[in-house]
Parts: sequence; C-alpha cells; structure tokens
Amino acid sequence: MSDVYATELFGLDGQVVLLAGGAGTIATELAIGFRRAGARVAIWSRSQASVDTALTRLREEAGSDEEGAVGLVVDAGSEEAVDAAIAESAAALGEPDVLVNAVGGNRGKGPFEELEVEAFEEILRLNLVAGLVVPTKLIARYWKAAGRGGAIINIASMTSYRPLSGVWAYGAAKAGVMNLTAATAKEYAADGIRVNAIAPGFVVAEQNRRLLVADEASGKLTERGASIIARTPMGRFAEAREMCGAALFLASRAAAGFVTGVTIPVDGGFLVDNV
Ligand SMILES: NC(=O)c1ccc[n+]([C@@H]2O[C@H](COP(=O)([O-])OP(=O)(O)OC[C@H]3O[C@@H](n4cnc5c(N)ncnc54)[C@H](O)[C@@H]3O)[C@@H](O)[C@H]2O)c1
Repeated sequence: MSDVYATELFGLDGQVVLLAGGAGTIATELAIGFRRAGARVAIWSRSQASVDTALTRLREEAGSDEEGAVGLVVDAGSEEAVDAAIAESAAALGEPDVLVNAVGGNRGKGPFEELEVEAFEEILRLNLVAGLVVPTKLIARYWKAAGRGGAIINIASMTSYRPLSGVWAYGAAKAGVMNLTAATAKEYAADGIRVNAIAPGFVVAEQNRRLLVADEASGKLTERGASIIARTPMGRFAEAREMCGAALFLASRAAAGFVTGVTIPVDGGFLVDNV
C-alpha cells in the first residue's frame, strides 16, 4: 500500500478533535495519535496540572505546537462548562469534527450488599453522565445548529459485554455506554453524525492500578490482575497506544464514513476466551 493511499484513508489533516478527559492514560495516547495523523486537538481535563502534563507529552511525542493543541480545564459533567469548552476550542482550533468521550474510570470493588448508593451514583455520573451524556448532547446540538456532521468516539469496556465481578456501577455504566452508542448512532445518522465506541481490554491506568498491580517495583500482579491475564488469549495487558488504530479508523470519514453504532473491542482476545 502506498503512503498516499494510507494518508487518504486514515489521515486527519485539517480535522479538529475534542478529547473530553483528554489528559487520561488512554486519551493522552489517542491525542498523540490524532496529532501524528494531522489533526489539531483540544484536551479537556479537570485540572490545569493534568492539562499541562498532557500538553507537554504532546509537544515531546507529537511535536505539537500551540496551533495544533490546546488544553482547557473543563468538568465534562457540567453542561455550562462543556458548552463553553466547545466554543472556546472552536475559536482556538477551528470547527470540531470529532469528539472523543474518554472521561470515566472505576473506584474499588466489593460485595453487592455492601455497596454505597452514593458511591454507586458517583460512578454512574462519572462514566455515563460526564463520560457520554453531557458532551454528546451538547456537541450534537452544536453540529446540528451549524448544519455540520461529525464523529463521536465513546470508550466502552470489557464489562460492557460481560459483567466483571465487584465493579457494579462501572459495569452498569459501561453497558450503558454501549447501549447509548447504538441509540445515539441511530438518532443522529440522518444528521451526518456517526457514533461509535472502542472497548479496550485492560490497560494499567491510574484509576485501576491498585486493582491490577500488587507491587509496582517487581510488577507482581494482584489476584485479579493475574486472572485477567490468564483469560486474555494474548497473555498480557494492553498498551494505551494500541487504541490509536481503532480511533483513527473511526474518526476518519474516508475509512469509516459508513460505520456507525458499533463498538470495536481492542482486547487481545479477552471476549473470545474459552476452554
Ligand atoms: N484502563 C483500562 O483498562 C480501561 C479499559 C476499558 C475502558 N477504559 C475506559 O477508558 C477511559 C479512559 O480511562 P483511563 O484508563 O485512561 O483512565 P484515566 O483515569 O487515566 O483517565 C480518565 C480521565 O478523565 C478525567 N476526568 C474524570 N472526570 C472528569 C470530568 N468530570 N471532566 C473532565 N475530565 C474528567 C480524569 O481526571 C482522568 O484524566 C474511561 O472511560 C475508562 O473507563 C479503561
């Protein structure tokens, strides 16, 4: 395949990508991938410190300059903040073409009868409301008002397909992410807005490190971490950057212009494990 063909199919020159939760482990790698494919990116994160760290990595690893990447402090669960962030990102970089909903994460695990309803609701808010509903609602409204199409990429999980033990709210929320990916894809297809998702296998990130890794120095895994590896046919965790291929594919109108409502597992075979 020639470079020209690959660029035509997957290149994102001139495109603008908004990344909600853009300073996270997976989203920072996606931002680097989008920059390397030619897009300009807006990193939305909750703290200035996390925005600055992500922008520094973008500069170092994708040679990004100020015209190519901006960072904003945004609470993705706040309609007012997201509305303002869309406008500010558009003013800085140009009209947005892609939204990546990468806010989410889990906190701990435990028996169902001991779950705290408040903590349960907090995880639903994080993964579903901030992680999908608010940014999707506002970018869809923005694109429809402007008569523009676009692409939304959500982040689902292995637990969207199959419950993982003890992480009740996270599982419910991620099943909801897959459901709403399909539902909003149908809703907005006629407006030229494609909605898809990536379901990563297990990537060691801040939000799940304690659940997976028992000892950082030796790399010794928790029982749960070891059990995940045993059930992953490829026998390892994923690297965050391994999500970039699916993200570029879903973002590209040339490659995926007729693809909507799907969730792509990038999981080393976790979902097809058997005896
Ligand atoms: N790491 C994995 O193994 C894995 C697997 C499947 C799915 N995921 C999903 O991928 C996504 C990214 O997760 P990650 O593992 O990179 O975790 P992460 O904790 O590194 O990234 C999440 C980011 O979202 C930010 N955030 C949280 N609430 C926010 C809000 N209200 N507004 C703006 N930003 C907010 C956090 O500060 C953090 O930077 C999540 O949806 C997660 O559930 C992760």
